Amino acid sequence: MKSNFQFHYILCSLLMLNACKENSTTTNAANKTDANVIDVHSYAKPDEAVIKHLSLDLAVDFNIRKLSGTASYDIEVHDKADTIRFDTKTLDIHQVTVDGKNTPFKLGADDKWLGQSLSIPVNKESKKIMITYSTRPEAEALQWLNPSQTAGKQSPYLFTQGEAILTRTWIPIQDSPGIRLTYDAKITVPKELMAVMSASNPQEKSADGVYSFKMTQPIPSYLIALAVGDLAFRPEGKRTGVYSEPSMVDKAAAELSDMEKLVSAAESLYGPYQWDRYDVIILPPSFPFGGMENPRLTFATPTIIAGDKSLVALIAHELAHSWSGNLVTNATWNDFWLNEGFTDYFELRIMEAVYGKSYRDMLATLGYQSLTSSIKDMDSKDTHLFLDLEGRNPDDGMNDIAYEKGALFLRYLEEKAGRPVFDAFLKKYFDEHKFQSMTTAKFVAYLQENLIKPNHLDINVDEWVYGPGIPADHPVVTSERFIAVDEKVAAFLKGKPAKSLDTKEWSTHEWIHFIQALPDSLPTPKMKDLDNTFGFTKSGNSEIIAVWYKLSINQGYAKEILPSIRTFLVNVGRRKFLLPIYTAMTQHGMTAEAKSIFEEAKPNYHSISSNSIQALLDKAK
Ligand code: BES
Ligand code: ZN
Repeated sequence: MKSNFQFHYILCSLLMLNACKENSTTTNAANKTDANVIDVHSYAKPDEAVIKHLSLDLAVDFNIRKLSGTASYDIEVHDKADTIRFDTKTLDIHQVTVDGKNTPFKLGADDKWLGQSLSIPVNKESKKIMITYSTRPEAEALQWLNPSQTAGKQSPYLFTQGEAILTRTWIPIQDSPGIRLTYDAKITVPKELMAVMSASNPQEKSADGVYSFKMTQPIPSYLIALAVGDLAFRPEGKRTGVYSEPSMVDKAAAELSDMEKLVSAAESLYGPYQWDRYDVIILPPSFPFGGMENPRLTFATPTIIAGDKSLVALIAHELAHSWSGNLVTNATWNDFWLNEGFTDYFELRIMEAVYGKSYRDMLATLGYQSLTSSIKDMDSKDTHLFLDLEGRNPDDGMNDIAYEKGALFLRYLEEKAGRPVFDAFLKKYFDEHKFQSMTTAKFVAYLQENLIKPNHLDINVDEWVYGPGIPADHPVVTSERFIAVDEKVAAFLKGKPAKSLDTKEWSTHEWIHFIQALPDSLPTPKMKDLDNTFGFTKSGNSEIIAVWYKLSINQGYAKEILPSIRTFLVNVGRRKFLLPIYTAMTQHGMTAEAKSIFEEAKPNYHSISSNSIQALLDKAK
């Protein structure tokens, strides 16, 4: 029989996958850019000329919605190279100097996803590039908010979202996750506002609106981040704290009071936290994601502030990225599962350590249910862990495959190897590859050498990584607490009234499971009974609201609660909530309502969310 290893190479050459072409046996020296890996989502050629350090000097102008100033780079040029290539998208480049000398530059053809290359002539003696530029109001990474879109209603707000390939819309940069750089920044903002970044941060406003930042650990470009607004800070523990608008900061601090425990739990699993402080900023509700793992400063949606700490798993997730993703980074977006699958697995390990196994089992079961239902609607080739996203938006890989299939694979490895052996393996993996990028092929080789062979495990890695769907011998994922919920669902469907169900001890996750376990054919009086008894439509918990609205639309109950649905959709910009609700509307004769709500809501959405919803509504008749 062929070894898995050989099989992998045969598969790679058959499919001619670019990212397979690098040699999977070499380990890079710490902090070195993986020059052999081809990233189809960047114009940069780091094996010719590569950036090492960035100094940003930018002014933030809310009136014209532009950042302008300079990006200065320390670069390294290899012997025969004559050009350094950057990624840009919707940027206005005013001037380029190489080692202080004004230099002509070339902008390439504009690609829908990649934007334009910026080519600058250099030679092996070239050391410093300075690019004078400004952003455009439509820059996809930037969301500019009017005062009315903030909690305080007095000041404007700006935040960036770099992942996956949007940093190039606010900084001309080599925008590939396989390229790491350190950075410092000087950011000038209106005097009454505060600026924070994925770097060393202020805890108070400056007198003059000028802020200085340093990120001394090398990071990939998608982790450079900036937020500007009327911000306040509250410490949690010695090295943790929360930023948000002043009116929310105490509530946010109370919700996240377990942060220090989460960091300690993570460290006990996979080794010391490498980024100095760990803070969280709670952004306005238009933030398109739940959370974003910007190093030292997680960006998070306010929809996790439920009042009962029930949604802190999201913080565990973003914190976990401090190892999986930020320390060891997917080399290309085809390897995205190395970021998110590992992080999803790690998130649940942190949650288990802090809140117990039954809690983890609920989260794992919700994830597994989501995975099996997603796979049904997916193209088989998109259900491989390792993807080929050439010519596509890398965000297409942001689905349950990377997250849930990825995590299930790690859980499978854990069960095969035994927890202590697997934990030691992962800890060593993070330690040996810290501040480096990782390809799927390199990880698979490392897994073979360091876990599978020494422990004589019988594991078909290729089936998991390069094959479709869920392999037959996958781990069994169940939750005792959900089995108890299922009994209540059955009783309710047999005719028991909602008020007779004993739900006193239920957490948010039991409620989510309860709603999702209800069939799509409940008569309206039963929906009303549930709503009157449990108050779902008016729930303060965004996760419960989101699944309830979706069910209501599927049931034909939505017309009765449409004003509440509208309010939610207009105020919340988190794509994970929006898309399922808008999708259900287009599938259940409510396309006109969906379009009308979208018209009103669109100014509140980040381009990431509005582009996805626009595409959905364009397809709907
Ligand atoms: N890194 C992701 C967010 C992301 C992925 C942004 C790809 C852009 C492109 C972040 O860590 C994440 O996974 N967020 C989830 C949180 C969750 C799984 C707990 C989210 O926003 O829903
Ligand atoms: Zn993540």
